[in-house]
Amino acid sequence: MSVGPKILDGILIAAEIKAEVGVEVRELAAQGIIPGLAVILVGHVPASEIYVRSKVKTCGELGIYSEMLTPPETITTEQMLSLVEGLNARDDIDGILIQLPLPKHVDTRRLLEAVMPNKDVDGFHPLNAGRLLSGQPGLAPCTPAGIMQILRRSEISVVGKNAVVVGRSDIVGKPTAVMLLNTSATVTVCHHLTKNLPRYTREADLLVVAIGQPGFITADMVKPGATLIDVGINRITDAARVEELFPGDAARAATFAKRGSVVVGDFHPSAFAISGAYTPVPGGVGALTIAMLMANTVMAAKLRRGLETGPLVAAMVG
Ligand code: GUN
Repeated sequence: MSVGPKILDGILIAAEIKAEVGVEVRELAAQGIIPGLAVILVGHVPASEIYVRSKVKTCGELGIYSEMLTPPETITTEQMLSLVEGLNARDDIDGILIQLPLPKHVDTRRLLEAVMPNKDVDGFHPLNAGRLLSGQPGLAPCTPAGIMQILRRSEISVVGKNAVVVGRSDIVGKPTAVMLLNTSATVTVCHHLTKNLPRYTREADLLVVAIGQPGFITADMVKPGATLIDVGINRITDAARVEELFPGDAARAATFAKRGSVVVGDFHPSAFAISGAYTPVPGGVGALTIAMLMANTVMAAKLRRGLETGPLVAAMVG
């Protein structure tokens, strides 16, 4: 009997985490505490609007108060700063999330630094980035924390393994590399200027890719049996490209026929086929990002009140 790759089901794992967070929310409610999340969404970026709606909906399902602020595209950095200051000062708001990307004229760095570190549920403030780097518990970026949860809950140990991260963004690549290092993997970080990328990816026992290039990592770039974590979320609107990436894939062709697009990851299906385990797209890492945002919001609510935080916190560090 041949054993195929294990599919790491992000939707299932996210549901498990949301259920645990829901229990914590009910425990807080019994003490008269309702965690609150404020999301700032500037202008009209369709992808961001979809994500933010999903974040707000999940808050509702778990009993977390949420508020959406939707300033126009023309808002200035100064006006954004005063919005953030207002939220920093409010006692009913535990988490502040500024949906990225922001319009070009807005100073993103200044804004991320203006969020009070103990309300920084994205983990983007330099203080929280520094805490992660030095292995202290705290608010850590949601997608990397979600990747660690997938590994942990699927009982995939990274201790002493070769972990290769492709992509060095502040949101995914860098914090993921740090969490893997904190968990005692041997970590290599590659990026778009890396020479001879396959030389590195072929050595990876664990390969995390976050580059936004549909089907970029092919079977010849992967060690057979490796664990593959696909962070790419790429929408394809060209039917020929879908057929090229997924020849004969009836399910995807049907989705394309219905919606006029499909979402694919950074791995080519041929790479998944020879892996030991992989996160599918959709249904992999993406589902975890919101679950971890909920976990971070509850953690922030507890931290700010000096309450003991749950077991998920330790997992944030790596
Ligand atoms: N845009 C894409 N991913 C993210 C994220 O994790 N947080 C925020 N704030 N914006 C994003």
